[in-house]
Amino acid sequence: MRSPLKFASRGRVPPFIAMEVMRDANQLAASGVDVIHMEVGQPSTAAPSRVREAAARALSDSVLGYTDGLGLPQLRERIARHYQDFYGVTVDPGRVIITGGASGAFLLAFLAAFSAGDRVVLASPGYPAYRHILTALGIEVVDVATGPADLFQPTPALLDQVKGRIDGVIVASPSNPTGTMLGRSALIALIDWCARNGARFVSDEIYHGLTYDEPATTVVDLSEDAVVINSFSKYFSMTGWRLGWMIMPRDLVPSISCLAPNFVISPPTLSQIAAIEAFDSHDELQINLRRYAENREILVAGLPGCGIENFLSPQGAFYLYADIANLTNNSLEFCRRMLRETGVATTPGLDFDAARGRHTLRFSFAGKTEDIAQAIKRLQKWR
Ligand SMILES: Cc1ncc(COP(=O)(O)O)c(C=O)c1O
Repeated sequence: MRSPLKFASRGRVPPFIAMEVMRDANQLAASGVDVIHMEVGQPSTAAPSRVREAAARALSDSVLGYTDGLGLPQLRERIARHYQDFYGVTVDPGRVIITGGASGAFLLAFLAAFSAGDRVVLASPGYPAYRHILTALGIEVVDVATGPADLFQPTPALLDQVKGRIDGVIVASPSNPTGTMLGRSALIALIDWCARNGARFVSDEIYHGLTYDEPATTVVDLSEDAVVINSFSKYFSMTGWRLGWMIMPRDLVPSISCLAPNFVISPPTLSQIAAIEAFDSHDELQINLRRYAENREILVAGLPGCGIENFLSPQGAFYLYADIANLTNNSLEFCRRMLRETGVATTPGLDFDAARGRHTLRFSFAGKTEDIAQAIKRLQKWR
């Protein structure tokens, strides 16, 4: 008789609800329903044409073997130059580390920066994978409940209220799910707080480039101790290419130099060669940004007519996070019903805020403008 096999409880993290909603929406679409996808945060456009052309060339001309474990040197240098061009900040290419998306960066960064048992602060609502990766690594997540008054971002005053030690603070500006941002002085205040309290600051800058009023501030020149994470997925419209990067503090580079090749040998070669071209594709990418800006206007203007009135207009990213307590206390059921009855797919807030997500939901407006306008029409009729 076989003895029962064990499983590790750390692998039992909660599911990623947005991805489950996308699966349901895809099933519905496959059955012939005209589904409008506002559930998953990904651009509806392909990678820039220069990127695709470079990939096609590399596919026919190159062996596409492994690259250096920390990434293709030409790409690391090109990213360093991007910091100069985009933010006017000098970055040593030796601190640039190429990863499998921002998601791959989280795993490496959290392993290098935190030990099992450490306590790391996350804003709630926030991006769920931070919590689930930290939890799987045995790192304790300390939730800080944020609201519209603090633009859904942590503040030094909120950190002061946390009981016990804090070893790290993770922020995203612009944020997922709220699209709110931290200005330069707010970032400096948080970094100072971390420096005073021996906490590592992690800045997820994946939505940089996708801002509607003010450009986003990078933490790279505000702190040499902070971990900065970015990706080709959002502004560069390359989700499926699975490529991101980190600017690592010098003291963590030796750990990453050992961890990264052991985990993945090297980041994907084809994507790396092609991504070098992404930084010379701004004209094309700005067209996407203008479409998101138009989509945002339509959503912000149209949602109140659908009974959804309680939200902040997003400053960046392509998400709008709404409190729908006036409509439901069961966002999961509400989103399922909305999908079934209108074909509009959205994400219930539970992914982002386990406590208050019962009465919130997130719209992604990364899609086509005509789809966003159509979604508003359907929801107005549905209310
Ligand atoms: C805040 C945030 N960080 C990271 C990621 C993961 O992105 P990537 O495709 O680079 O792994 C996402 C994806 O939606 C995100 O919203």
